Amino acid sequence: MMSLNNKKILLGISGGIAAYKSPELVRQLIKEGASVQVAMTDAATQFVTPTTLQAVSGQPVFISQWDTRISNGMPHIELTRDVDAILIAPASADFMAKLSLGLANDLLSTLCLARGHDSNGVITPCPLLIVPAMNRQMWENIATQRSVERLLKDKIAILGPASGDQACGEVGMGRMLEPTEICEALIAFFQPKRLLGKKVLITAGPTYEAIDPVRGLTNRSSGKMGFAIARAAVEAGAQVQLISGPVHLDTPLAFLGNIQRTNVTSAQEMHDAVLTHHDSDVFFSVAAVADWRVSSMADQKIKKQSTTDIPHFDLVQNPDILLAFSSASKNKPSFCVGFAAETENTIEYGKKKLISKNTSLIIANHGPSTFGEDINEVTLIDANNELTLGPADKLVLAREIIREVSKRLPT
Ligand code: CTP
Repeated sequence: MMSLNNKKILLGISGGIAAYKSPELVRQLIKEGASVQVAMTDAATQFVTPTTLQAVSGQPVFISQWDTRISNGMPHIELTRDVDAILIAPASADFMAKLSLGLANDLLSTLCLARGHDSNGVITPCPLLIVPAMNRQMWENIATQRSVERLLKDKIAILGPASGDQACGEVGMGRMLEPTEICEALIAFFQPKRLLGKKVLITAGPTYEAIDPVRGLTNRSSGKMGFAIARAAVEAGAQVQLISGPVHLDTPLAFLGNIQRTNVTSAQEMHDAVLTHHDSDVFFSVAAVADWRVSSMADQKIKKQSTTDIPHFDLVQNPDILLAFSSASKNKPSFCVGFAAETENTIEYGKKKLISKNTSLIIANHGPSTFGEDINEVTLIDANNELTLGPADKLVLAREIIREVSKRLPT
């Protein structure tokens, strides 16, 4: 799956030790389908060679504004006219200060100042995203923070920095985001902002209902579909609350700061967490909630007795979280999306759940063939229509689901 198909990126590299990660970033951008033109400052060549970047990008690298390879002798103009975005990674404190003041004394700073996307002779500003990387004292310095303020005011996107171990041995803010994160952030940047400003609540994964301290009832949900919806919602500009059962997945796009995650174990905990977000605009109930729990959990591990003395458990039903939410939000109706994981009669059961769960949309699928997989096929069922999407990668499907939901939201 390639999310940057047909995108032309100009990657600017300024002088900082994080530049050693730039070849890997180029590789990842290309793997996502982008073509990458590299421009570097002189200082950057101290940390990574132009030869390496030419090899991984497959294109000549530009460093000097006096480069004669561009036929009209104006690389600072020509290099940006056909690109979709300029990405500066790493962006040093010096480069950020220059950019924020509009200084232009080398190729990279000059092409940022002259940036423009040419669409049939109409020149529009070319988006500029920067990824800071520096020592924490440099980042915290009031002068750098002044640059940050000015850059944000100039509508230049700043990705990161992250906090953690630094090359100098100190620990703190200023680490460059990892190449995978930068690539994901760029992919997110290009997605249509269909849910801009919306509050989106998502449950994901299984729940685990303890029988004793070492055993429990659960199911085969991996959380992948719910986490894909969470990523697609953040990409679409939403503020996301992700309530997850026990899964082994990282919070998607956490470094962008638009997603809060709450980890829960049991259905009751998930229910309580969900109801604190009753003011959400959209609720995606993706979690595979365990329908039953034992009536009372044993305090100690239940020991095996004889072969004939098998323990019996009384089960009680868990709360229906989706129904509780859709009923609770009656005064300020949220758009509720339920998922129906079935083994048979998928559409028929899906239609019944649309009504019984009081939802705006049901997304029905075949449970056993999707749990844990990267690919899924779903049917969207609303009061009027059925629409089948896929089979496709769960992230591709998630983006299509967001598109379908956004079409149905009240304006
Ligand atoms: N759901 C829920 N709380 C529950 C059970 C299910 O919120 N206790 C939600 C799921 O997140 C999903 C939808 O209800 O969005 C349908 O879940 P599913 O497991 O398919 O249906 P059930 O209600 O459990 O019905 P059944 O097991 O009979 O198919």
